[in-house]
Amino acid sequence: MGLKPATNPDVEAATIELSIDGKSVTAKDGVSLYDVIAMTGKIIPAMCYHYTFDPFGSCGMCLVMQEGKKAPVRSCTAKAAAGMVIRTEGEDLFLARKKAVEKHLSVHPLDCPVCDADGHCELQDMAFQHGVTNLANAKQKFIPEDTRSPVLDFNMNRCIACAECINVCKDVLMIDALQFMKKGGFNQVVAKGDLALDCEFCGDCLAVCPVGAITNKFSKYLYKPWQMKTTTTTCNYCGDGCQLYLETKDEEVVRVTSPLSGKNKWGDRSETAKGHGGLCVRGRFGFEYLDSKSRLTQPLVREGGQLVQKPWLETMHLLVDRLTEIKSKYGADAIGGLVTARCTNEELYLFQKLMRAGFGTNQLDSSARYGHMNFVLASKRAVGLGRTPNDWEDLTKAKTIILIGSNITETNPLTAVRIKEAIRVYKAQVVTLDGAITNIAKLASHPFLIKPGTEGAVIDGLVKATIDQDLVDEEIVAKHPHAFEALNSAVENVSLERLAAQTGLPVEAFREIAAIFAESPRSIILCGEGIVRRTNGYQNVLKLMDLAWITGKLGRAGCGVNTVTEEPNEQGAVDMGAAPEFFPGQARFDDQGVRDRFAKAWETSLPPVGSGAHLIEILKRCKSGQIKALYILGENPLATLPASMEVRAALERLELLVVQDPFLTDTGELAHFVLPACTYTEKDGTFTNLEGRVLRVRQAMDPLGESLPDWHIMTALANAMGCRWEYQSANDIQAEIMKLLPGYYNLGQPRKVVPIPDQYLSDGYTAEVKARYQQTPPSGEHTRPFSLLMGQLLVHSGKLSTQASGLIKIAPNTGKLRMNIRDMERLGLQDGAKVRVTSNRGSLQLGVQPDQSIAPGTCFFPEHFNEPPVKDLMPVSVDATTGVPSFKQIWVSVEQA
Ligand code: SF4
Ligand code: SF4
Ligand code: SF4
Ligand code: FES
Repeated sequence: MGLKPATNPDVEAATIELSIDGKSVTAKDGVSLYDVIAMTGKIIPAMCYHYTFDPFGSCGMCLVMQEGKKAPVRSCTAKAAAGMVIRTEGEDLFLARKKAVEKHLSVHPLDCPVCDADGHCELQDMAFQHGVTNLANAKQKFIPEDTRSPVLDFNMNRCIACAECINVCKDVLMIDALQFMKKGGFNQVVAKGDLALDCEFCGDCLAVCPVGAITNKFSKYLYKPWQMKTTTTTCNYCGDGCQLYLETKDEEVVRVTSPLSGKNKWGDRSETAKGHGGLCVRGRFGFEYLDSKSRLTQPLVREGGQLVQKPWLETMHLLVDRLTEIKSKYGADAIGGLVTARCTNEELYLFQKLMRAGFGTNQLDSSARYGHMNFVLASKRAVGLGRTPNDWEDLTKAKTIILIGSNITETNPLTAVRIKEAIRVYKAQVVTLDGAITNIAKLASHPFLIKPGTEGAVIDGLVKATIDQDLVDEEIVAKHPHAFEALNSAVENVSLERLAAQTGLPVEAFREIAAIFAESPRSIILCGEGIVRRTNGYQNVLKLMDLAWITGKLGRAGCGVNTVTEEPNEQGAVDMGAAPEFFPGQARFDDQGVRDRFAKAWETSLPPVGSGAHLIEILKRCKSGQIKALYILGENPLATLPASMEVRAALERLELLVVQDPFLTDTGELAHFVLPACTYTEKDGTFTNLEGRVLRVRQAMDPLGESLPDWHIMTALANAMGCRWEYQSANDIQAEIMKLLPGYYNLGQPRKVVPIPDQYLSDGYTAEVKARYQQTPPSGEHTRPFSLLMGQLLVHSGKLSTQASGLIKIAPNTGKLRMNIRDMERLGLQDGAKVRVTSNRGSLQLGVQPDQSIAPGTCFFPEHFNEPPVKDLMPVSVDATTGVPSFKQIWVSVEQA
């Protein structure tokens, strides 16, 4: 410790000059000498160094000669200082490094033929580079392999004690799950306390291990590196959009690695604020669904009550006949469509074009409706911007981060790593406001546990405390005196004392958080599912905008109100116009100029303004009989929405239900036609991540069986319905998008955007703001003692990850309700005891298990599983402005069954 991170350009240190191999070099005082050398373009041998954390200095490879010293010095742990004269090459250094390699190999098992690292092992490379040939007398350690973890095996015979695994886990991920322990005469890496590994299972320790001491259980002995094809693509699980290397052998996905695996001493490095290149457990170990035996490989058509396999051609003929018949009999508004935000941008674009230009309906929606639309529509209303204003670099370099209603480690683990970086490197103050004891709260400077469902009331209090304490940016609010006056009067009757009782947040905490946020030069708010997926989500985002506005944080560089996207392409779904409100580019559907432009580009007439329907309205129209045919692409509303939505009745009323999906879902079981879609590994395209960065999705293998890319199926369908679409590839679609939305792709960089609230503040704000702060009772009425929440687990993502056998091994459906241990003790419940959970909508019996992340007074069930059907205890409230359904929280009673 004590070294300054050289890759942090903001590091506060004097600039110095030193000499490296006879050349004068400028550097920051006190950074690792290894980094300074690497920045000159010279890569010297190293095995225990990694630029993302402080050097450990154990391998003895990075030796250099420093003038004035007799013996070589380890450049990784040496601090650069003014006037140093350094030599990095020479026979003496070569021999000293060779000796270090020989020392490592003298206790290394040399089982390379069966080692997973064979062919990309740094020890092998070092031995080769230094001509080490005296390998015969290696002393065997005979340490039994530690196979207790569900994903990683530890073979300590191969360990070179470099500590990279321990350091990445402790410093970068701030999890600290590993340690050295002296066992059997050797220093071995073990899980903390020598227990079975219990961590986030991100696999970053595996990625940085320079040898084969840590191996991936799901890929072990399956490959030699040179047998595999590596494809760089974008993860399909969440909106973080991590870059991953998909390694395939024939038509099988063998393993997933990431830039972290190769990005260390070989000179490939990036500024740490832009990401360390690692993955989370889903990205690294969730690949087994891709070539799963349960994948659909053939179209299915309902015949005599059964789904039977049919060839594509026959299926398409039958389907087009049915669609044409329905359209001509009932009109275009008898058709609706839903699409998943796991599709690529090109497919989402094509979906809305198919619905509007092909079928002639604006009854279409995507899974962004489950929450992200609350943020998009509120942000668009307030600042004219339908996405987050800040990128990961802004987040990492923020001085203050308010994380509200977000269990960020579970939903967006790599965004969480950026917040950890903000804490670790940039010394950010982090305020967490959540109803759960989240992982990030454990690291935050200001962790606050609030009563579930009171996020909106917390924001009321923060706005009030800001005004009361004169923390307002006078210059900014002076530009809109009427708006500020209206806000002032709207919060006049807000009482911090009352809010303290309602939310559980002490009055002093409101004042302290308001002051931290207002006084910090770079303040970011990040709101998650507790805001955007809950009742009043739209209004609560607007309130956050109020807070940011009056403190001068709207539009200021490095500041802003942000959200996260849980599915990989929710932002893309909105940007591509897969919503009844928007054309591509988030252009308003009812804007005549825009309508003319798209009608011309698509050479078609468009569905009339006012005829559109979002997800909930579409389901209502199915149930009422207005919609007769529903085209569902990758969505599974039957498994997602609670029984009170009567989705089954709505779908059963349809004359035609078409489901296009890689798997036969619950919704698919009801369909008349099931079309086998391939996964993201079998097609090209792009995703837009939560920063607004457009990332490439690249085909890594051929489509499984007869499955086809979604864009391909839609093109065939459109042409059979009379369109003349000539797309031969995702590139052709991309070319059309580029013409309509110049600059959207922006070479993979997030387009710089500036939120501008002026129009809103001068037009409409004063009329709206009063209602926003009207004191309403807490959502869900506190009629029963426990708040039941449904939400995401780190290991899963929607229902898709439940098809990944590796992830199911790590986190199977226990079918149990998770509760705080104190509540369990109070109710006299043991782990596994049966309880009856009762809400106003019904009751069911299930087991209980203790969970230390669950706050007292709450209980939790993962949203990924429907067995038992906990979701059916939930009521649904639909946001009046955005149509976002909220159904993840209710008050329940829990009693021993
Ligand atoms: S898998 Fe991730 S969290 Fe677990 S020990 Fe390795 S680095 Fe740490
Ligand atoms: S397990 Fe690998 S990364 Fe960890 S100390 Fe051993 S060699 Fe280094
Ligand atoms: S953080 Fe999200 S995008 Fe990154 S690996 Fe995990 S699931 Fe994939
Ligand atoms: S001692 Fe410096 S890289 Fe290992």
